[in-house]
Amino acid sequence: MFSLADFGRMITDSARLEAHVEALRRVVTPDSVVLDVGAGTGIMSLLACRAGARRVYAVEPSDVVQLLVEAARDNGYAERVVVLQRRSTEVTLPERADVMVSDLRGVLPPYGTHFADVIDARARLLAPGARLLPTRDTLWAAVASAPEAFHDRRAVWLDGPRGLDLRSALRHVDNTTVRMRARPDDLLTAPVPWATLHYPTLTDRRVRGEETCQVTRPGAAHGLLVWFDTELVEGVGHSSAPGAPAGIYGQILFPWPAEEPLEVGDRVTFDLRADPVGGDYLWTWETRISGPNRAAETRHRQSSFMSLPPSADAIRRRAPGYAPTLSPAGAETLAVLEAMRAGRTIGVIAEELHAAHPARFPSVAKAHGFVAEVARLYGA
Ligand SMILES: C[S@@+](CC[C@H](N)C(=O)[O-])C[C@H]1O[C@@H](n2cnc3c(N)ncnc32)[C@H](O)[C@@H]1O
Repeated sequence: MFSLADFGRMITDSARLEAHVEALRRVVTPDSVVLDVGAGTGIMSLLACRAGARRVYAVEPSDVVQLLVEAARDNGYAERVVVLQRRSTEVTLPERADVMVSDLRGVLPPYGTHFADVIDARARLLAPGARLLPTRDTLWAAVASAPEAFHDRRAVWLDGPRGLDLRSALRHVDNTTVRMRARPDDLLTAPVPWATLHYPTLTDRRVRGEETCQVTRPGAAHGLLVWFDTELVEGVGHSSAPGAPAGIYGQILFPWPAEEPLEVGDRVTFDLRADPVGGDYLWTWETRISGPNRAAETRHRQSSFMSLPPSADAIRRRAPGYAPTLSPAGAETLAVLEAMRAGRTIGVIAEELHAAHPARFPSVAKAHGFVAEVARLYGA
């Protein structure tokens, strides 16, 4: 969930903004129908209008997109912009778009339902041969020395306060990725590209790459640093690499469970995977370190699956053989959904809910909030 300040930072990331200005300038014509998926404040929609688009559909579930209604009017684009406050997967359009602009990434492109949403929009909302901005993301990795990121997040568990032993948390901490901003000097190997995502043809939501990095600078290494470059259209893009102009993304450190002193000539082979699970990604990173002066190969196998200990109960409740029953909140939600299907108004449903469950909803106003939220999530 982004705040207005976050959306402001997206706009002030000038490398990202200027690349989009140029890419839209190159692909948008006076006939263009542009689909802005994840419009946020609508900045890309406004830029598409400025580039000359005939029509722009701005699709965004957050209330922030209402800012676009005023901004489109204030910039003279009100006739060309259609705001659809929904997720793209819930939208149908009266015409297919020939340009799609979107930035549904997190710090890295495998994030949430990004790939599934692009695949869905491409199939249902875009014309054949439509231009997708971005066209391609390339994922890069290098071995990094990141002593602060490594030690800071471990220190509290290693040295529990008042003599308490909190070290059992370490195996979870060591399976947790870290967002950071590294400098080029922090890299001990040359960067290697390990995966490419070509959005016009992407069908697989999994991402996997296996590569070897050669150590070119000696130092204490703490894990793999990962970032991406994007090509919006040929020759126009931006990057979240260490040393690139500081933008909104930064990099992700896939840490190792121990500091590894590396020498020039050592080799670090990694197998890095992002697998979609539920509405997000599970990351797995395996590392093998070898070298002429290392007694034996060092191996680490880590996964974000281990980043928090799942309770036995949570595991049992996900098993295929488990038959869940309705919780009180589930039963209330079902009652609201049935009343919605019967065509009753939010006010009437709230009064019924208050009468049926006075302990849970001591006032009609309390019931109204609950009903309005269910209607927001599942209503049309
Ligand atoms: C990183 S922000 C980008 C905002 C704006 N386009 C920009 O470039 O400054 C991503 C936005 O995408 C929205 N979003 C994510 N998935 C979406 C989907 N499937 N359909 C519509 N919006 C989506 C989020 O709510 C969020 O506001």
